[in-house]
Amino acid sequence: MGFSRRELLAAGGAGLLLPGWAGRLWGQAQASTSIVTPENAVGGFRFVHMTDWHIQPEKGGVEGVVKALHRVQELEIKPDFILTGGDLVFDSFKASRDRSLQLFDLFNKTIKDECTLKVYPCIGNHDVYAWGDPTQAHDPLFGKMMAKEKFELEKTYYAFNHKGIRFYVLDSIEPRDDNKYRGKIHGEQLEWFKADLEAKPLMQPAVVVTHIPIFTVTVFNESTYKNSSFEMQNGAICEDTIMLTSLLEKHNVKLALSGHIHLRDNIQMRGVQYINGGAVCGSWWKGPHHGVQEGFGVVDVAADGTMKYEYVDYGWEAVEEG
Ligand SMILES: [Fe+2]
Repeated sequence: MGFSRRELLAAGGAGLLLPGWAGRLWGQAQASTSIVTPENAVGGFRFVHMTDWHIQPEKGGVEGVVKALHRVQELEIKPDFILTGGDLVFDSFKASRDRSLQLFDLFNKTIKDECTLKVYPCIGNHDVYAWGDPTQAHDPLFGKMMAKEKFELEKTYYAFNHKGIRFYVLDSIEPRDDNKYRGKIHGEQLEWFKADLEAKPLMQPAVVVTHIPIFTVTVFNESTYKNSSFEMQNGAICEDTIMLTSLLEKHNVKLALSGHIHLRDNIQMRGVQYINGGAVCGSWWKGPHHGVQEGFGVVDVAADGTMKYEYVDYGWEAVEEG
C-alpha cells in the first residue's frame, strides 16, 4: 500500500537531513545541516480521508463507523490524522432540532470513545441544520451554526500546516433559493482562500478537501445526459469549477479530495490530482454504492511532497440490503 514503511520512516524520521522542496526552501536559511523537526519536516507521513460517514443509529450506522475507525487505527503505518470529507451525520438538513442534536452528539461521542487520532471536520450538505425546513430559521443553531458549535469550529473553513504540507478544509455548501443547496466557494471564504494561497510559498505543496467535488468525472452518468448533451447540476459539482481548477493549478495544490457522490475516481488534470473518495457508509448503509465498497482513502506523503492514494475497504457488510 503506497510507500513502504522504510521509505516513509526514512523521509520523516527526526534527525535526518531535510530532503525535497522543504530542504531548498528552509535549507538556505539553515544551511545544509538542517534537521527535520515536526515543525518543518515535509513528507514521510500518512493521513486518511474519511468522507460521508452518515452516522445514524439506524442500519448499523454507528457500528459501521466504529469498525472503520478501528481499521484506520490498525493500519500498519499509523496515520497522523483523519481528514474528513463531510456528511458526517445523517441527516440534519431536513431533521428536527432534537434529531440533529442527537446525531451530532453521537458523532462526537463515537470519536471520543473510539478514536485517538486527531479528526478534522469538514462540512457536508447533511451537516447543515434545517435549510430544508425554513420554519426552523428562528433557531440560533439554524444552518451551519449547529455544526460550528458541535465541531468546535470558529468558521466552517480553515487551513493548517502539517509537516510542510498546507491543508485547506473548505466549505462547499451554499444555499439555493429553493431551500436546497449548491456547490460553491465564494464571498468571504474565497477571498480568504485566495489570500492564503498567495501568502503560501509557491513551493509548498497543498491539499484541498471539499465535500462537493471541485472536479470529478463521477457526474457523467445517465441522469446528467439529456438532449444529446451533459447537464451538470450545481448540487453535484461546484458550479465555479473553472475558476477553482485554475486557482489550484496556479498554487501548487497537489491533491483535491472530495465526497458527496459516494463514488470513486482518480484524475490527474493540469498538475492536480482530483479524487472522489467513496464513502464510509457506502450506499447510505445499504451496501456498496454502484460497486464502491464502504471505505476510506489512505494518502502517503513522500519526502518530495508527492502523494500516493489507496482506497481501503474496511470490511463492512450491510445490515439491511438496499
Ligand atoms: Fe453523502
